[in-house]
Amino acid sequence: MNLADSQQCRWHAVSDGHALQTAALETISVSAARSIQERGQFHLVLAGGNSPSKIYRGLRATQTDWAAWHLYFGDERCLPADDPARNSRMVGDAWLDSVPVPPLQVHAIAGELGAFQASRQYAETLRTVGDFDLVLLGLGEDGHTASLFPNHEWGAAPGSPDTLAVRDAPKPPPERVSMSAARLSRARQVLFLVSGESKRVAVSEWRAGKGIPARAIRPTSGVDILVESALLETPSGR
Ligand code: 6PG
Repeated sequence: MNLADSQQCRWHAVSDGHALQTAALETISVSAARSIQERGQFHLVLAGGNSPSKIYRGLRATQTDWAAWHLYFGDERCLPADDPARNSRMVGDAWLDSVPVPPLQVHAIAGELGAFQASRQYAETLRTVGDFDLVLLGLGEDGHTASLFPNHEWGAAPGSPDTLAVRDAPKPPPERVSMSAARLSRARQVLFLVSGESKRVAVSEWRAGKGIPARAIRPTSGVDILVESALLETPSGR
């Protein structure tokens, strides 16, 4: 698939991690209010990893109708449900254990079942779900997003399955489940959260048009990328 020219990116430079968290909270709150006003529900896909946990913690204070929120995970690690490295555990500890989102509206990926079974089960969960209102995604050092890694299947082509079983992920743990690029792209809005010096190369490759997995996320409305401004500066003299 030619990734070079099929992703509309809006880069939003922020001064530091705190500014990124503030901007992300604003985007999530605005998207939630608009979705609930227009459709009575807010369907949000959560990013994993470490970057988003402070954002999730900030969501505790949101004044909203939590009964209208429907939450999904862009990916999950195939670990026991209570493992601290599980994305669902990170999100619960930071946020969901503190707010009254109806448990049946929090759609965790059953990573404890193993990649194949959990992937099939989550595809069934998503079968009756339409376009997401907002998808949150991180960016890995190698340009991965969710659990879509370089030199692996991304499920970007139209008609791709909604979920992928990943067995040899280069980022531990090796076994994961990921929404496909095609399913992550079925969204009214996609917001990437990019902070940390370790992401500099991935940001540079992305902006240079290299075919990293993050470029495979191509919603009709394009993607918004919150990025620390230092990661956009090219080293002087080179
Ligand atoms: C995961 C994440 C992964 C993450 C990136 C960035 O399960 O590991 O879904 O895609 O978002 O690796 O991770 P950090 O935010 O920790 O840098």
